[in-house]
Order: sequence, then C-alpha cells, then structure tokens
Amino acid sequence: MKVPSAGPRTARTARGQAPPRGVRRRAAACAAALLLAQAAAGALASPGGTASVVDPAIDPLGARLAACTACHGPQGRASSAGYLPRIAGKPAAYLYHQLLNFREGRRPYAAMKRLLEPLSDDYLWQIAMHFAAQDLPYPAPAAVQLTPLRRQRGQALARDGDPGLGVPACTRCHGERLTGRLPAAPGLLGLPRDYLLAQLGGWRTGERRAHAPDCMADIVRRLGDADLAAAAAWLAAQPLPADARPAPANAAGPAASAPLRPTLADCGAARRP
Ligand code: HEC
Ligand code: HEC
Repeated sequence: MKVPSAGPRTARTARGQAPPRGVRRRAAACAAALLLAQAAAGALASPGGTASVVDPAIDPLGARLAACTACHGPQGRASSAGYLPRIAGKPAAYLYHQLLNFREGRRPYAAMKRLLEPLSDDYLWQIAMHFAAQDLPYPAPAAVQLTPLRRQRGQALARDGDPGLGVPACTRCHGERLTGRLPAAPGLLGLPRDYLLAQLGGWRTGERRAHAPDCMADIVRRLGDADLAAAAAWLAAQPLPADARPAPANAAGPAASAPLRPTLADCGAARRP
C-alpha cells in the first residue's frame, strides 16, 4: 500500500488523478471546516492581516480558540473517523511543539500557518496548555478493516517493535497504554487511520519534521510501507483504556526497563517547563 505524504496538501490532485477515497473524504471535511474557520479566524488574525504579535494579556484566549475548534471539533475532540486529529488531552509540550512546527514550517499546512503566524511563543504555550488540560471521553474507534496477518504485525510493532530492524516498540515512548507519555510524546489512540498514515508518510518524505532528535524520522526509515500501514490500521482500531491520560514521565514500563540509544532517549524532551 502506498503511504500518502503528510498534510492536507495531499488532497490536491496530482496531474488530474482522482485522489484516494480517504483523501477525498479528508479534503471535503477540511473544506467544510475551513468555511466555519474563516468566520472564526478573524478573531485570531490581526486586523487587516498585518503580522503584529498578539498579546494574550490584552486579547482573551477563549474567543480565539473558536478558530481552532471549528476544525478540531468542540473542545478539540475531533472524531476518530475522517482526517482531523483530536488535540484535547495531548501533552502540553507536544502540542506546543506542533504549533511551533506549523508556524515555522516543519509541518506544512497553510491554513494553520496563517492562523499561528501572528501569535507569540507565549501565546502558543497558553493555547497548548488550554487543550492539554481537557480530559474528555473518546468516541469508539472507527471501523478499520484488518486482515489477521496485518493485525498481528501492527500489534507486534506497537508492543514489541522489531529488534531485527532496530525498531523499538511504540509503547516505549508513547506509553505502555499508548496514551502518550509526558512531557512531549503524544498518544497514538483515538486518531483516524488516514491521519496516522499521513503522518508516518510525512516523516518518510521529510514533509513532517520534529525538533532534533527527530526519532520518528529514524524509526519510519527502518519500516516498509506495509509495516507503516499495519501499524496505523492496528492503532486506529484500538479502543481507548478507561484512563486515557498520558503516562507520567517516570512511569515504569518498557521505556524504563531497558536503556534506549542516547539520541532516542532524548525523544519527547520538553522545550517548555
Ligand atoms: C482549517 C482547519 C484547521 C484550523 C482552523 C486549525 N487546524 Fe489544527 N489541524 C488541522 C489539520 C488538517 C491538521 C493535520 C495536519 C497534518 O496533516 O499534519 C491539524 C493539526 C493540528 C495539530 C497537530 C495535532 C497532532 O496530533 O500532532 C495541532 C496541535 C493543532 N492542529 C492545533 C490547532 C490550533 C491550536 C488551532 C487554532 C489556533 C488550529 N489547529 C486550527 C486543521 C485545522
Ligand atoms: C524513541 C521514541 C519513540 C518511539 C519508539 C516511537 N515514537 Fe512515535 N513519536 C515520538 C515522539 C517524540 C513524537 C512527537 C514528535 C513531534 O514532536 O513531532 C512521536 C510522534 C508520533 C506520531 C504523530 C502523532 C500525532 O498526533 O501526529 C505518530 C503517528 C507516531 N509517533 C507513531 C509511532 C509508531 C507507530 C511507533 C512504533 C512503530 C512509534 N511512533 C514509536 C517518539 C517515539
């Protein structure tokens, strides 16, 4: 299976070809959300579109977040289908990194770049903390078709990794329950399969980058398309555990029980306290 590259930009048809079904759905969802967002975005963009930095002390946060929730769903809890990622309840430092990444182009997405450009680092940190503090129930996972072989491979990668390929288990960094690990590793459950696949594809093509050490780029390079597809499909099919909050930084588990390579050990380090 061909892994799509990251970002809604994949919704564009290359040379007039019809995009795959998931991408068409995603494009429709984004277009509808964008209409809603445009109304709310006025609140985020500075008047007249100038790039003056918005001061959160003067501008109350609440009204501005309407631009975000127009796309990311009420309170940032986008559904498990379609393409849009949930942002509610993810570690604050992870969200903050992503807002910086969109603003600075390490993740390409023009609609969010435009919204974030006028905002200072402090403002982005406040937005990140706002969404991180949401502890809201998750919907059931979307139905995902998985052959038994693919299910087995996806689960093995998530729980055990592939020592032969030098790939650690996803649980090592994303928490034993895969709900994330503080300070800055996101949960992998409750996200649409198309979104997960596009992110992994984005690391493969270099379209998505993280602050160094960019461990995901390293991991994705070691896995083939079929493995990425199996991991994304298996993850998308898992129900959330009752406690879906990220694991604490010092949680016992696979990450604590075996030493990681020095660069991998720094993965998910916070850029903010
Ligand atoms: C026009 C729709 C739209 C608007 C408005 C929007 N987003 Fe997004 N957002 C997206 C899409 C689509 C993605 C996934 C992009 C990709 O594929 O990398 C995304 C990704 C993200 C991510 C990364 C999630 C993750 O798990 O890595 C964060 C964080 C985020 N948005 C926060 C915000 C905030 C905060 C705002 C308001 C300032 C906002 N977004 C406004 C559509 C939108
Ligand atoms: C060595 C640590 C480490 C391991 C092992 C690891 N990850 Fe990650 N992963 C991270 C970090 C750190 C991030 C956040 C990167 C960033 O800030 O953009 C991340 C982000 C992700 C994201 C983006 C989530 C989102 O909301 O956009 C996906 C998808 C992902 N990892 C999948 C996997 C899968 C699948 C595996 C197992 C095959 C895995 N990861 C193993 C550290 C790791």
